[in-house]
Amino acid sequence: TDATTPAPERTLVLVKPDGVRRGLSGEILRRIEAKGYTLTAVELKNATPDVLAQHYAEHEGKPFYAPLVEFMLSGPVLAVVAEGQGVIAGFRSLAGATDPTAAAPGTIRGDLGRDWGLKVQQNLVHGSDSPESAEREIGLWFPQP
Ligand code: TYD
Ligand code: MG
Repeated sequence: TDATTPAPERTLVLVKPDGVRRGLSGEILRRIEAKGYTLTAVELKNATPDVLAQHYAEHEGKPFYAPLVEFMLSGPVLAVVAEGQGVIAGFRSLAGATDPTAAAPGTIRGDLGRDWGLKVQQNLVHGSDSPESAEREIGLWFPQP
């Protein structure tokens, strides 16, 4: 790359504990790669209360915040950095609507969501919602020494 070539767009994807538990990590990574995005980091991690407080800072104080954090601590998550043109909006489009019961067929949450009676929080994946969020979240989940 030279000075006139913009850095490729990146996003932070998490396969949440429900996705890891159900053995859907591979299927979710497959969809990201099949779309043409490049995986530049993939690591199974245990979230911590400190990382989650920062990751979900925008939701602090909302009624679903405490159960969401508790759920995210219930098992390992797969943290992923994906790269490609328009990947931030593109991954959110692959993921589908936040509530799996409302997510369209063809999307990760729509096809695999299996919500019926489960909580909205168990919606398989997280994807950053803006370039600023993406860089902040990548730094949080993949800290550079
Ligand atoms: P949000 O950032 O609004 O959704 P998204 O993951 O699609 O960007 O919310 C973060 C997570 O909080 C969401 O994935 C699931 C959970 N959540 C609930 O449990 N209940 C709710 O009413 C909302 C809006 C979110
Ligand atoms: Mg969000």
